[in-house]
Amino acid sequence: MITLAIESSCDETSCALLKDGREVLANIIASQIDTHKKYGGVVPEIASRQHVEAINTVINEAMAKSNLTFEDIDLISATRGPGLIGALLVGLSAGKALALGLNKPFLGINHIMGHVCANYIVHKDLKPPFIGLIISGGHTYLIEVKDFIDFKIYGTTVDDAAGEAFDKVARAMNLPYPGGPVIDRLAKDGKETISFPRVMIKEDSYNFSFSGLKTAVLNYINQKNQKGEEIIKEDLAKSFQEAVVDVLVEKTFRLTYEKNMDIIVLSGGVSANSRIREAFEEKGKKEGIKIYYPTLDLCTDNAAMIGSAAYYLYKSGKYDTNTFADPNLSL
Ligand code: KG4
Ligand code: ZN
Repeated sequence: MITLAIESSCDETSCALLKDGREVLANIIASQIDTHKKYGGVVPEIASRQHVEAINTVINEAMAKSNLTFEDIDLISATRGPGLIGALLVGLSAGKALALGLNKPFLGINHIMGHVCANYIVHKDLKPPFIGLIISGGHTYLIEVKDFIDFKIYGTTVDDAAGEAFDKVARAMNLPYPGGPVIDRLAKDGKETISFPRVMIKEDSYNFSFSGLKTAVLNYINQKNQKGEEIIKEDLAKSFQEAVVDVLVEKTFRLTYEKNMDIIVLSGGVSANSRIREAFEEKGKKEGIKIYYPTLDLCTDNAAMIGSAAYYLYKSGKYDTNTFADPNLSL
């Protein structure tokens, strides 16, 4: 079964073609990061305009790369939420227009579900049940994945998302957007010299909170500046990152034990973080729990993961026929 998928929920315009939900025939991604970098974050109106400019090109490039014709496609899909409303509408409208013109079925896809499914593309043997940790720029979810399309949410963030914390801390450190990869790189040369709070780590709830940690970092920077003392960016990056890692590891493993699972699957842009991967693998090895995460190109936003989600949804027959854009769509 050939699926065409479109992703345009934030600052990447992407089109992919997949065979049977796990084999990528093309995955073209046009990133807007260089444009938004100037403003220190994504500017929604600019994002929408750039999606309009890029959408036909990425679709044509994906078709050319896959060596398929439109007639070969069995299913068309696009992200319908969560995300920026203007951005979502571009990919969704393009997908629906294609489906209508070609007389093919169309599915609107949940972006968060897409992040989880990125793992099915990379790890051919992976199948539910497992515990999923989705950590991206806009979302943090700790879930039990019972089946390909059956999720139970145990925890989410009560304030900032994990990636948002990385980006905001980086901004306060005068580092470029997106801050996650820069902090990751700096931290490799740093030592954990500052003790930041592990917010909510011992609470029974599986929820996360990252804004208190962010504030602690901002206070540290302000105090150092007031005293005219030097800030060692590598140490600050390392100390912040370790606080995030500890909370993510502690809560995810706790849920894994509670549910008697032996697989943890990471996804979302922050799962590209080298220290997060290392910390999960170290503990996983000790505890006999297998750790999966996508390749770097499939951690951040892309249409291939949407195509994989669309395939499993379609096969289940239990999909929502709603194809309207929903900026606040929950998992
Ligand atoms: O999944 P994604 O592309 O977008 C959303 O759906 O939100 O994630 C983007 C986020 C940004 O916050 C970025 O800073 C973060 O992923 N990120 C990282 C790393 N690479 C990307 N965070 C920490 N370490 C990284 N290496
Ligand atoms: Zn995403």
